[in-house]
Parts: sequence; C-alpha cells; structure tokens
Amino acid sequence: MVIRGRSPMSTDLHHPLFSRFYARVSRWMEAQGMAGLRTELLVGLTGRVVEVGAGNGMNFAHYPPTVTEVLAVEPEPYLRRLAARAATTAPIAVSIVAGRAEQLPLPDHSADAVVLCLVMCSLPDRRAALGEARRVLRANGTLRFLEHTVAATPGLRVVQRVADATVWPRLAGGCHTATDPAAFIREAGFEVTELRPLRFPVVRWVAQPGTPHVLGRATKLA
Ligand SMILES: C[S@@+](CC[C@H](N)C(=O)[O-])C[C@H]1O[C@@H](n2cnc3c(N)ncnc32)[C@H](O)[C@@H]1O
Repeated sequence: MVIRGRSPMSTDLHHPLFSRFYARVSRWMEAQGMAGLRTELLVGLTGRVVEVGAGNGMNFAHYPPTVTEVLAVEPEPYLRRLAARAATTAPIAVSIVAGRAEQLPLPDHSADAVVLCLVMCSLPDRRAALGEARRVLRANGTLRFLEHTVAATPGLRVVQRVADATVWPRLAGGCHTATDPAAFIREAGFEVTELRPLRFPVVRWVAQPGTPHVLGRATKLA
C-alpha cells in the first residue's frame, strides 16, 4: 500500500544469519520467561492492532480474544515467512505485510493499538518510527512496548556502550542495547502510563548487555 504524498521506501531488509539465529533463540527465550512477558505486554488489548517488526510471530499466540485483527509488519523475508506460518495457528486473525517501522503501509488513524516488541533497539530512526506509530493510531490509541533499555547501573552501562560500539549490533541484527525507549516515546507525543523495568534473561554470572528491558504502556496525546 502506498500512502498518498510520499514515495515508497524499499521494504525488505535482509538479515539471513540473524533471522535464522533468532528463529531458534526466540523459542529458547519463550521457555526462559519471555512467554509470560509477551502475555503481560498484550493483555487487555482490543480491536485492530498493528505489530511493528513482528519477526517470526512469537507474539501471535499471546493476543487476547478481544483483539479483532492483527496487522503484522515485518521487513525481513525469512522471518516474514515464519510469521505467516505462525499466523495459521494464532487464536486471532493475523495478516502479515512487508514494511518498515519508518514507513508503515497503513492509513492514518487506522489502528486501536500499536505493539513494539524487541524492535526499537534495531531501528536506525526511532523518531520516524514513533511518528509513524502516532500517525496510524486513532485518537487516544495505545502503544504497548517491551524493549531493551539502558542499564540502571554505571558498570553495566559501560558494558552496553562497548558492546553497542563493537560486536553486538553485528550479532543481533543491528540491535543497540543502550537506548532509552521510554524517553523516545514521550518525546514522540505519547504519555507513558506504565513502565516496568525488568531483567531478561536472568543471568547472574556475567554482565550481559542485553538484559535490561522495560515493559510499558503509553497513550497517544492529542
Ligand atoms: C529481535 S527481533 C524481534 C521480533 C519480534 N518483535 C519478537 O518479539 O520476537 C527484531 C525484529 O525487528 C525487525 N526490524 C528490524 N528493522 C526494522 C525496521 N526498520 N522496521 C520494522 N522492523 C524492523 C527485524 O526484522 C526483527 O523481526
């Protein structure tokens, strides 16, 4: 779909190694507690939901029956194929479309909710992506997010900065761990109404840069 007044951006984003790695590791994550976090992320949603960067569709099984339709936007072709497969067994109706967060293939004010799950960290332009989330949301629409965040402790923040500047983005599909998603969300014109810092996975024996996360809710401001 082309939105009037702008030229379409190339949608596909190929990450052949990361996508295959993520397809496996996401199943391990689910068993480590991600399943419960996904349920918490999505509980209470209603109506038409846009999930941005849906990956291989791990959230689909966790949507509540009050959701009438999920439009899942994913730019990586291999993950998109897996998402299409996951959609066939989802408890709610899911459509998969190629697209990027920075240019969502959707009309203005067409969604009741937008979901961002483990995706902001790999976006080169978070402001553009949140502007798009705002554009497609109806008035007072809700944004749900579960994202990497910058660590609370100075030691882990240093580890994150070093990881982000070296191997981490190459291993993890462009992910940068030391971001502050809540700050970006506020700046984009949302009121953050719930914000729960958490650690995932729980690793005690090493300062793992990817463990600090935030799970939250925000409302589109007028
Ligand atoms: C770590 S995976 C998370 C996948 C899924 N959201 C989940 O919860 O399992 C990050 C996802 O963001 C997607 N992604 C990367 N850049 C993107 C962009 N510019 N627009 C939309 N999605 C993007 C990747 O293709 C991948 O599916």
